[in-house]
Amino acid sequence: MRLADRRIIITGGGSGIGLETALRFQAEGARIAVLDRSPKSLDTARTHLPQAVVVECDVSHEASVQRAVEAAAEGLGGIDGICNVAGIGTRKSFEETTAEAMMTDIGVNLMGPFLVSKAALPHLRAAGGGTIVNVASGLALRPTEGRTAYGASKGGLIVMSKAMAIDLAKDKVRVNVVCPGLIDTPLVKDTSHGASFTPQQYEKLMDRRIIRRMGEAREIADAMLFLTSNESSFITATVLAVDGGGSMH
Ligand SMILES: NC(=O)c1ccc[n+]([C@@H]2O[C@H](COP(=O)([O-])OP(=O)(O)OC[C@H]3O[C@@H](n4cnc5c(N)ncnc54)[C@H](O)[C@@H]3O)[C@@H](O)[C@H]2O)c1
Repeated sequence: MRLADRRIIITGGGSGIGLETALRFQAEGARIAVLDRSPKSLDTARTHLPQAVVVECDVSHEASVQRAVEAAAEGLGGIDGICNVAGIGTRKSFEETTAEAMMTDIGVNLMGPFLVSKAALPHLRAAGGGTIVNVASGLALRPTEGRTAYGASKGGLIVMSKAMAIDLAKDKVRVNVVCPGLIDTPLVKDTSHGASFTPQQYEKLMDRRIIRRMGEAREIADAMLFLTSNESSFITATVLAVDGGGSMH
């Protein structure tokens, strides 16, 4: 068991990468608290993770985060780690990106991990240390067209994570980032985000990759597991691209 008795918060744990991470961690002996805001994701978490603490939370709202992190700490009896997975992604060109869209992506993708990590810090300290793994994106390493707001939020998350790693080393908290490439999840399939691809668009996306396929959520969960487990005990402030070589340049 690589995470025996570790108590881990996973935001966005009711869908896609977050759900896969929660299932993988549970199989390795962790106790999980899922924080998510969508009723559908909360239902999925309750069904697939019956032993988990499942808490409704909007990670972009400080009061909601405070309440949810305290509920998670109480339900788990403490907190040893956080996986900040919850995220959204506007698909608009720079010209089409409104100030509101910028604030929305930054609110969830950057402020979310900030607020959750800050609320959980006293609990990580009380546990004698822990791990934070923030999920950014391959797009933050190699931007593509039409992703101004999303790219800004995820790029900010990478630098914030490195700054956190420096400041939290004294508390024995390691902070790392996983940058997924295109992964087959509801976020990518959700046409309400304009996320379905024509065969031509798909081929163009694959031209940027060394491994010419979409990734699976399981492949991101494996990276999350490594960076949360003690196998990565000497690793902090690192950015691990899990993207089939898509960010190589
Ligand atoms: N799927 C990909 O191709 C891909 C690529 C790069 C990065 N990512 C990142 O991986 C993470 C997970 O993506 P996914 O593909 O599993 O998406 P997903 O849509 O399947 O899951 C995201 C989950 O986050 C939750 N969420 C969204 N906003 C929230 C908020 N404000 N508060 C609480 N919960 C919220 C959603 O309800 C959902 O359950 C995101 O941060 C995303 O940006 C995904």
